[in-house]
Amino acid sequence: MLFGETCLLLRCQKPHFSKTDKISDNDWNLSRSMEAPYAMKYTLSINGQKRDVEAEPGTPLLWVIRDELDLTGTKYGCGVASCGSCTVHLDDSPVRSCQTAIEDVANAKVTTIEGLDSKISKAVTTAWRDMDVVQCGYCQSGQIMSAIGLLSENPSPTDNDIDDYMDGNACRCATYQRIRSAIHQAADKLEV
Ligand code: FES
Ligand code: FES
Repeated sequence: MLFGETCLLLRCQKPHFSKTDKISDNDWNLSRSMEAPYAMKYTLSINGQKRDVEAEPGTPLLWVIRDELDLTGTKYGCGVASCGSCTVHLDDSPVRSCQTAIEDVANAKVTTIEGLDSKISKAVTTAWRDMDVVQCGYCQSGQIMSAIGLLSENPSPTDNDIDDYMDGNACRCATYQRIRSAIHQAADKLEV
């Protein structure tokens, strides 16, 4: 790392200096305070289990899920809450895990695509298979988590309800029509 260069790591915007760089004491102290590691311990309730993790405050839940807990069904798409591929459930409601800080989930129940185990989730995943919704698959865990959230709040959604609720879940393969059909099928099955 060159003198005072900004770190190129995705999640690090800190200037890095070495002890031998000719900088003022103030800059050195500032640099050290910005770089000081301060990982904290958190206990997550995730997919029905308690899991201990260490992370710096402010770390997105998405990184903890994927990098620390190895639950890679939840995907990184945009990192700015615009695509929905990182959707998980927090206390049964869909959230964007890329924009959810680890310290904000300490007392909540987290569910990822790997931990689905409810009547609604079974109806949704069955409908997804029946309708052959998936193309490349990258967005689909987020789509499924949102669809379950929709049917939990609204058991008989109209096309407009579906389009409104699923609006934040992007699919580059444009599987939207099949997603809509699958949600209708799941709703019909759950009604019976
Ligand atoms: S990665 Fe979180 S919304 Fe795109
Ligand atoms: S199935 Fe490919 S991005 Fe949605």
